[in-house]
Amino acid sequence: MNIRICGVGSALPALTVTNDDLSKIMDTSDEWISTRTGIRTRHLATEETTTGLAVEAAKQAIKDAGTTPEEIELIIGASATPDNIVPSLACEVQREIGASNAVAFDVTAGCSGFLFAMSIAQAYIASGKCRNALLIGAEVLSKIMDWSDRSTCVLFGDGAGAAVVRGEENAMCYMTQGSDGARGSVLSCMNRPVNHPYHVQDSRHAFVHMEGQEVFKFAVRTVPIAIDRLLAEAKLTADDIDYFFLHQANLRILESVAKRLKQPMEKFPVNITECANTSAASVPILLTEYKKSGRLHEGDKIVLAGFGAGLTWGAALLTW
Ligand code: COA
Repeated sequence: MNIRICGVGSALPALTVTNDDLSKIMDTSDEWISTRTGIRTRHLATEETTTGLAVEAAKQAIKDAGTTPEEIELIIGASATPDNIVPSLACEVQREIGASNAVAFDVTAGCSGFLFAMSIAQAYIASGKCRNALLIGAEVLSKIMDWSDRSTCVLFGDGAGAAVVRGEENAMCYMTQGSDGARGSVLSCMNRPVNHPYHVQDSRHAFVHMEGQEVFKFAVRTVPIAIDRLLAEAKLTADDIDYFFLHQANLRILESVAKRLKQPMEKFPVNITECANTSAASVPILLTEYKKSGRLHEGDKIVLAGFGAGLTWGAALLTW
């Protein structure tokens, strides 16, 4: 039994911030940001919350799948920026949508989170533990950005994407994941330090710290290897794939992967231009856009790939 995506949804905050808007509050420019990354605008949460965006995306995905919250038996939230430490994002969504028959929990795998969630759903469904799973990638990254660090804060945006996956006897599904904790310091965000009456420390909030060039090199090296591995397992070539839905971290990363796979950029959906890097949410947001605009067709062979903090990476080869 393999999984197939049968419904998708997404939600973005109402506020759109352009590169020019940012250049009014920090020493940056549209030219610097867009030439190095492809980003032109991003959505930033004001009233919206991670849970609120996730709930909106989840409701759309359930409707799109033609199912009901009661039929969802597994909810996995992928987020580095849930509203609470506990309860989890997945449990919050469960409450809000009334998915009372689901097991709900979160995974932390940075920008690969959605792909890791998908692999867990595949294992649950293949083992017969459940039939319908709801996967959510949701982030309000703006709350963990250091807005005085122009090299990082301009790259990220807020948003949520969700997918309902279902077990199907003859569906095609190949997956791979990997982690390299030894190199994790190149993209990190500390949690709260130990701080209590017996051990008082500096308790200032920590923000995302990134060594951009190291992350860039990691991505362009690792993603093509992961995709090649899936293609070999599936006995396919890159030419057989209709679309490569890659995590949207940098347009130049997408171009580099396309070049290494010898594929045209038309096969690489892009929305980093409007949404910037929404971490675990980027792949399901992109899938929703493509589905809604009628560019995905039943039977299309698609590759999904995520990469980022951990370091982690994950990829999936599926039929639509
Ligand atoms: N506006 C203007 N100038 C900026 C700037 C900004 N927002 N941010 C940094 N700069 C400056 C730097 O201070 C540096 O100036 P200097 O040469 O005078 O010291 C200069 O621009 C070049 O910075 P550099 O870091 O070398 O740029 P880069 O070409 O490596 O691009 C990234 C930086 C972050 C865009 C790029 O490394 C990248 O995209 N990496 C991958 C990040 C990523 O994908 N992360 C998420 C993974 S999930």
